Amino acid sequence: MANYLAMNREELTVEKAALEAEYKKFQAKGLKLNMARGKPGPHQMDLAMDLLKMNDYTTDAGTDARNYGELEGLQEARELFADVFGVQPGEVFVGGNSSLQLMYNLINIGYVFGFPESTCPWSQVEKRKFLCPVPGYDRHFAITEEFGFELISVPMTPNGPDMDIVEKLVAEDADIKGIWCVPQYSNPDGYTYSDETIERFAKMKTAAPDFKIFWDEAYIVHHLTDEIIETPVLLNESKKYGNEDRVFMFTSTSKITFPGAGVSAIACSENSMKYMCKRFSVMIISYDKMNQLRHVRFLKNKEGVLAHMAKHRRRLVPCFDAVKTAFKNNLTPCGDIAHWTNPKGGYFISLYVMPGCAKRVAGLCKDAGLTLTGAGSAYPYHKDPQDSHLRIAPTYPSLDEVETASELLCVCVRLAVVEKLLADKAD
Ligand SMILES: Cc1ncc(COP(=O)(O)O)c(C=O)c1O
Repeated sequence: MANYLAMNREELTVEKAALEAEYKKFQAKGLKLNMARGKPGPHQMDLAMDLLKMNDYTTDAGTDARNYGELEGLQEARELFADVFGVQPGEVFVGGNSSLQLMYNLINIGYVFGFPESTCPWSQVEKRKFLCPVPGYDRHFAITEEFGFELISVPMTPNGPDMDIVEKLVAEDADIKGIWCVPQYSNPDGYTYSDETIERFAKMKTAAPDFKIFWDEAYIVHHLTDEIIETPVLLNESKKYGNEDRVFMFTSTSKITFPGAGVSAIACSENSMKYMCKRFSVMIISYDKMNQLRHVRFLKNKEGVLAHMAKHRRRLVPCFDAVKTAFKNNLTPCGDIAHWTNPKGGYFISLYVMPGCAKRVAGLCKDAGLTLTGAGSAYPYHKDPQDSHLRIAPTYPSLDEVETASELLCVCVRLAVVEKLLADKAD
């Protein structure tokens, strides 16, 4: 392997033929691999099976968790999530099996009714807009796209979204109603917002009185190293500036216990809690408190959650390492054709390939039996202006599969780059 960027046409043509031969060998294996979605593997879910052994549903207060009641969630569940978020139990709402659904419901409330500070429902704001740090989580963007918001990209940095841009935009435009954030081990880069970024979010001036920060702590306890990264809590910081009604923090146990069968939670101000409960109470009597209680008895408190996540980590670290090792061994020697993130937590690695190559890489992978998240899907409207980003999710497949998938991925990256370099030279 040599630096592709220094090769002439003949050398690239020889390299292309060699890569095509390698690629065909992978195709002949009839692989069926998937590194598309951030799903836990079966072994991780096995770790939580004891949760289902519980058969006494009497709460600490002596009530029966099997019955209706307590829309805001069981007191002990509010305490557990308060511990995880770093807020007060009274500021926590415990929901059902999906935090994404809670986010959807809140956007829906803004759209149909507005929030107490709104001058009108968001549906009546003709040019309503939402900020989307990119690359970001496709399902966040899909919600605001569905409700007719214009999605405005803001570049991510290793310290969080570019705050100069965020502050300028939100100060000038009252039609911007909110921003999506994954502040810890972001999806997909794995970046954690700096203390300064969080402070700037807490105090920033917004033209819209009803601007909301959707602060998705999906990976708040999903550490991949021994370093337990903890950051200032946005809700608490915002109180210092009287901006606490602007903040909705979310999390869930989807990647702690069972995705789709876990428990979700919101942390927000007292005012927001009252308003949210008023609206939610028309929609639902109470969430699944049996599952809430099972989770509390199984996980206990933040310490218990962290101990459980340490078991996940043992399985996940080798998978992340396998991807990074393959990239280092197979891509680094080819020159500056790709770079990737080195997350300290979360569920993803971002791979940035030479601009103009990401779609081709994903297509080549697909035709050899490896499904990746569609190129561009981490950007609003699925359009990566550089056609460079690929989100790699190494958590679901077995270690063997991750190793094979990473080798194949590297062949596809190199082939796509060589094709692009040859095409450029032909121009
Ligand atoms: C950033 C982020 N938020 C939310 C979710 C979904 O969470 P839930 O299962 O609680 O709806 C995911 C799942 O991948 C995610 O990556």
